[in-house]
Amino acid sequence: MSQEIAKLEIEGKIIELPVITGSEGEKALDIKSLRAETGYITLDNGFVNTGSCTSAITFLDGEKGILRYRGYPIEQIAKGSNFLEVAYLLNFGKLPNKKEFNFFEEKVTSFATLPEGITKIIDQYPLDAHPMGVMSAVTSSLSAFYPEFLDAPLDNVQRERVIAQLMAQVKIIAAYFYRRTIGKSAHRSHPSLGYSKDFLNMMFFEEGKEVDEAVGHALDVLFMLHADHEQNCSASTVRVIGSSQANVFAAIAGGIDALWGQLHGGANQRVLEMLEEIQKAGGDHKKFIAKAKDKNDSFRLMGFGHRVYKNFDPRATIIKEQCDIILEKLNVQDPLLDIARGLEEEARSDEYFVKRNLYPNVDFYSGIIYKALGIPTNMFTVMFVLGRLPGWLAQWKEMREDVAAKIARPRQIYTGERLRDYVPMKDRK
Ligand code: ACO
Repeated sequence: MSQEIAKLEIEGKIIELPVITGSEGEKALDIKSLRAETGYITLDNGFVNTGSCTSAITFLDGEKGILRYRGYPIEQIAKGSNFLEVAYLLNFGKLPNKKEFNFFEEKVTSFATLPEGITKIIDQYPLDAHPMGVMSAVTSSLSAFYPEFLDAPLDNVQRERVIAQLMAQVKIIAAYFYRRTIGKSAHRSHPSLGYSKDFLNMMFFEEGKEVDEAVGHALDVLFMLHADHEQNCSASTVRVIGSSQANVFAAIAGGIDALWGQLHGGANQRVLEMLEEIQKAGGDHKKFIAKAKDKNDSFRLMGFGHRVYKNFDPRATIIKEQCDIILEKLNVQDPLLDIARGLEEEARSDEYFVKRNLYPNVDFYSGIIYKALGIPTNMFTVMFVLGRLPGWLAQWKEMREDVAAKIARPRQIYTGERLRDYVPMKDRK
């Protein structure tokens, strides 16, 4: 088939731009020759309309509410898979057979303790430090203890090992810091429990108490739903940092920092704080809807809206189901859930939200589940880190394996002062 071409007319000159077609039929204009041929660049605030790469990891169609990892629908993944298997799928492109899964699990297990130097670093943090700052800094610090992985950007073997290492250790860092903040000694990782049960066990271990199977499974589902979301803000950050061949610890730490923001993963903490605020204000969610609609007020309905999903977020639908299951299983009656439901109902029938296609996103109900599990509010975004980690790693790995990958270096349109002469301080007014 001949190459499809789009034609662009600029200043009377027609230039031809190749059309790139994805495997689901999405189209893009390849503009790499644009500047050389015309002197023009494209300008796209917030990359709303810019494809930064081609990728075979995750497909999503925001209009239809479709999300697939390596071709598998998120609904089937959530029903049948487990988080470690999803990590394998995202990173290695296929569902593992038993032997492959066991091998991967063994590799992850071989990293199931933190270097002593890392625990000493964590011990230095103030107990009220925000856990996201700790996660980012300590992940970056791992580079000092695993110098062999500094070569991972260019070395296939080290790349696969460091993926297993981070899958094992990031959750231990989170649990270790939490145990310190509640004055309890760390409890070691037992990967054979399964990713999520092991994490909950490290967080809440008490002699004679076991993590409930169904609760462990529900958290695993939540992690699977968060595992990748193509070129979102944090994944793009990981790619941008990784594009300079910086080490993977730096790239993942950057992803953690980008996720922290309240317009991204930090929204899950802000949702719960917003629901509590509404509760304190007597449960009047209408007042908050009005605030969110008021253009003179910077308040936004947290957990609502999405850059890509303009119909519904398929993850939010599954999370809402899981929320009911967990609250029932743990026998928790949370009035915040009623407030959340009321808010959703109100917003979904309000013209402002309908017209702008604003629906609950993945963060809207996840906080209620984390709260029910006993996770403190300031650790909600850390839970997102654990879920998103395999996706970040897969995005980084895919980029590093692409021989044509280039350093990320966008351009700009300069709008500052034109040429002027330097004035010595003594002559300035
Ligand atoms: N509450 C009220 N109004 C909103 C909201 C909201 N939550 N989200 C968007 N809008 C409005 C905007 O004011 C804008 O209105 P206008 O057209 O009259 O100016 C319109 O909807 C479009 O919003 P943008 O900010 O242009 O949309 P964008 O795609 O850039 O932002 C985002 C998406 C950041 C998610 C936004 O919807 C938001 O701030 N949501 C709240 C924070 C949140 O829940 N973030 C988590 C996202 S999911 C994730 O990252 C895991």
